Amino acid sequence: MSTIISIRNLHKRFGHLEVLKGIDLELQKGEVMVVIGPSGGGKSTMLRCINHLEKYEKGEIYFKDVLLHEKRVNMNEYRMKMGMVFQQFNLFPHRTVIDNLMLSPLKVKKMDPAEVKEKALNLLKRIGLSEKASAYPINLSGGQQQRVAISRALMMDPELMLFDEPTSALDPELVGEVLEVMKQLAREGMTMIVVTHEMGFAREVGHRMILIDDGLIVEEATPTDFFQNPKSERTKSFCGRFYRKSSRSVYRGAPAFCFVYPENREHDEPRADEGPYGDLFF
Ligand SMILES: Nc1ncnc2c1ncn2[C@@H]1O[C@H](COP(=O)(O)OP(=O)(O)OP(=O)(O)O)[C@@H](O)[C@H]1O
Ligand SMILES: [Mg+2]
Repeated sequence: MSTIISIRNLHKRFGHLEVLKGIDLELQKGEVMVVIGPSGGGKSTMLRCINHLEKYEKGEIYFKDVLLHEKRVNMNEYRMKMGMVFQQFNLFPHRTVIDNLMLSPLKVKKMDPAEVKEKALNLLKRIGLSEKASAYPINLSGGQQQRVAISRALMMDPELMLFDEPTSALDPELVGEVLEVMKQLAREGMTMIVVTHEMGFAREVGHRMILIDDGLIVEEATPTDFFQNPKSERTKSFCGRFYRKSSRSVYRGAPAFCFVYPENREHDEPRADEGPYGDLFF
């Protein structure tokens, strides 16, 4: 196995607010890591530090053997190796779908236009959006826009994909089509760090899960151990509260999973006959 990303003792603060308090992480080639945790815990900040959209005060981030913050490193070169997909799709609104895909390879990589176009059309075909090549983002559904955003990142042949809650801005019925593209990528062996609370996804394609709370990794485990045998009390209480909240949305047909608690359950304790967080449905 080869290590793609190695993070050591990463600290990041915004003014007086210490957001990351010593993150240590290793990601192997082909690995899918799912990151969960409460709002404000530092998940997005960690992703943004990895591709140096944020500077950090202390610690090291290596891409393979390269220490990224060293002066001699051309960070733009390394950013190309890391595709990033955000909650808000961030497509260029005044450009067509195919132009969105072609822009970076043409401008940044100076690739041959015919080759780039062929690659873009192939990617659009793969995500089932060939007929939208000439459309503008505003005329696409949220799910379609996010699939285009993923394809746009793939145009640069990244070695690592970073996803920051890619489905959380979508209407529930559009979540599945985006997750399907991500699952396909995972199955093809893409190395991925995915901030998401879609636990069906985590269980199906995740190799490892981490919970980030208050700037620290408080749990790291395989999805199976994470759900069935969490070590930290923080994981248990976060998941308990989180699942109870999401169990309501299943009635809108939303997520691919849900923990159902009795309506009148007053506290987080599970019954003796259920898993640590309730009855799990995927
Ligand atoms: N540019 C910034 N300037 C100042 N504070 C920031 C900035 N970006 C993030 N923060 C603060 O850093 C903390 C961590 O934010 P971050 O966005 O990493 O959390 P998160 O775990 O991704 O949360 P969420 O689940 O809500 O997306 C929060 O308190 C946030 O307000
Ligand atoms: Mg975030």
